[in-house]
Amino acid sequence: MKTNKKIPVFILSVVLGPIILTGLIQSNQITLTDERFTRLLPDSEGIFVQEIVKYHYIGMEKCASVCHNNEKMGFQYDIMKNSPHSNAFKILVTEKAVRYAKKANVKENPQESPVCLKCHVTGGGLDSSFFASTYRKEEGVTCEACHKGAFITKAFIPKEEDCLRCHNDSVHKMNSFDFRKNCVKIAHPRPKVNTKET
Ligand code: HEC
Ligand code: HEC
Ligand code: HEC
Repeated sequence: MKTNKKIPVFILSVVLGPIILTGLIQSNQITLTDERFTRLLPDSEGIFVQEIVKYHYIGMEKCASVCHNNEKMGFQYDIMKNSPHSNAFKILVTEKAVRYAKKANVKENPQESPVCLKCHVTGGGLDSSFFASTYRKEEGVTCEACHKGAFITKAFIPKEEDCLRCHNDSVHKMNSFDFRKNCVKIAHPRPKVNTKET
């Protein structure tokens, strides 16, 4: 009797095994897709957003002033600190800013207005729970604005769509955006090192 039972169990495991395995692989793929999905919609309030780890913006000083400010790294911190993005918060007090604010029906100080801060600081539009104590909005648009996402903890190289999140005229007019040319304008490459060529 005992040996008779073993045969159906063996057959069952042969049949069900691959099905269960495929299921596991597929559910893993679904998670990856959802991560991309929430990356495109960081403001949505779906369950997946709740489940994904929040990124805490630490600010440029903490992020890069040491590790990304030496010869090996191509002094990326100095380059970015002297680029227009670092001025993005400061320019919100200019006459032009006041004009843009008026046109956009923003009554408060543009440096306090979520409407303007959305694109003029890193993590603009997110609530305070996304910011570490070292974060300073005065630093403007910094490393983390392009290399991190509200729910993506790993660093990434931004694509055109990441720039267009801010480089669009939803609130005021601006220059048309040429991704390649503009990447050259803000270039901060690491110097090439001599690696073994195979
Ligand atoms: C959708 C993102 C976005 C929003 C919202 C936004 N800006 Fe801007 N702003 C930009 C970008 C990108 C630039 C750089 C544009 C360029 O030079 O092509 C810019 C440039 C500026 C400039 C400099 C323009 C110049 O030509 O010198 C001022 C001033 C300014 N914005 C003020 C404001 C004010 C005030 C608000 C709120 C009423 C605001 N912005 C809201 C993205 C935005
Ligand atoms: C406005 C968006 C933006 C900001 C702000 C920004 N980066 Fe980048 N970064 C890019 C883009 C785009 C590339 C890819 C450039 C390319 O491939 O031509 C890049 C590339 C890099 C690379 C890879 C370079 C290489 O040659 O391997 C590093 C490292 C890096 N950035 C670090 C930083 C640091 C550190 C800061 C802040 C001090 C910073 N980035 C700020 C957009 C940005
Ligand atoms: C978080 C919003 C934001 C993101 C993301 C962003 N920018 Fe900007 N960018 C701005 C703002 C705001 C200014 C205006 C700053 C100023 O005039 O002081 C600006 C200015 C610039 C300028 C100088 C003005 C001009 O048009 O010549 C360049 C070049 C530029 N951005 C390229 C890029 C590129 C390339 C990316 C993507 C890799 C990118 N930006 C991503 C907000 C952003």
